[in-house]
Amino acid sequence: MTESDAEQQPILMFDSGIGGLTVLREARVLMPDRRFVYVADDAAFPYGNWEEPALRAHILDLFGRLLDRFRPEISVIACNTASTLVIEALRERFPGHPFVGTVPAIKPAAERTRSGLVSVLATPGTVKRQYTRDLITQWASRCHVRLVGSVTLAGLAETYVREGFVDEEAVRGEIAPCFVDQDGRRTDIVVLACTHYPFLVNRMRKTAPWPVDWIDPAEAIARRALSLVKVSGANTPNACHGADPVIFTSGRPDFTTARLMQGFGLSPMS
Ligand code: DGL
Repeated sequence: MTESDAEQQPILMFDSGIGGLTVLREARVLMPDRRFVYVADDAAFPYGNWEEPALRAHILDLFGRLLDRFRPEISVIACNTASTLVIEALRERFPGHPFVGTVPAIKPAAERTRSGLVSVLATPGTVKRQYTRDLITQWASRCHVRLVGSVTLAGLAETYVREGFVDEEAVRGEIAPCFVDQDGRRTDIVVLACTHYPFLVNRMRKTAPWPVDWIDPAEAIARRALSLVKVSGANTPNACHGADPVIFTSGRPDFTTARLMQGFGLSPMS
């Protein structure tokens, strides 16, 4: 494949909803000359409450169609709930196609914590995954890691980004279990292990009982994606690029969502 062929191939950015936008904005900074296709599987949102076998089958099936349709150079699974379940199965099913996953940033948290008390804030799906447990055993065996699964935070983030409003008391209640104070030590790191949550981080800071380091892995994921794509040489935005396409699996984004996507330089396509 020539370099210009590679330039024609977009980077596919995938999430159940708006969470992947937190990764897209970092990826655009690092790869301003690249085209992206953003896929929001909103018909299946929220992933966090799905049973594992059904969600695995659903995502594998959907990816068969997405790869055929868009022929991306790489795909970024900008969703912890999906990645921790299906990243290995995707690599097996579509060998030769590079996938970048998003998994809870437990290793950097374990390296950075001073108190040894770390919390991982995620969807109920991510919290119960064996993949997440294995990351803790592998990288954080010397820390006390509290897993906090939230049923409502991803939905609150969706509402906040679309409507500019969130119930702060609801945020306070959802993050409260992350804060552990025991034997004179306090949680000092909270891993944002759902790509929706960085949209709410200011509200989390405001309602947290004490200051902590909130780890958002978006930039690290974008760097990993950059390391896998063919370099085009020009690292400047191409003025000819119009908006990148966004696909909603529901086929019917509401007006506010469509406007939000426009703000991210995305234009809905059917
Ligand atoms: N953005 C997704 C993640 O990173 C989850 C949201 C959902 O429950 O669908 O885990």
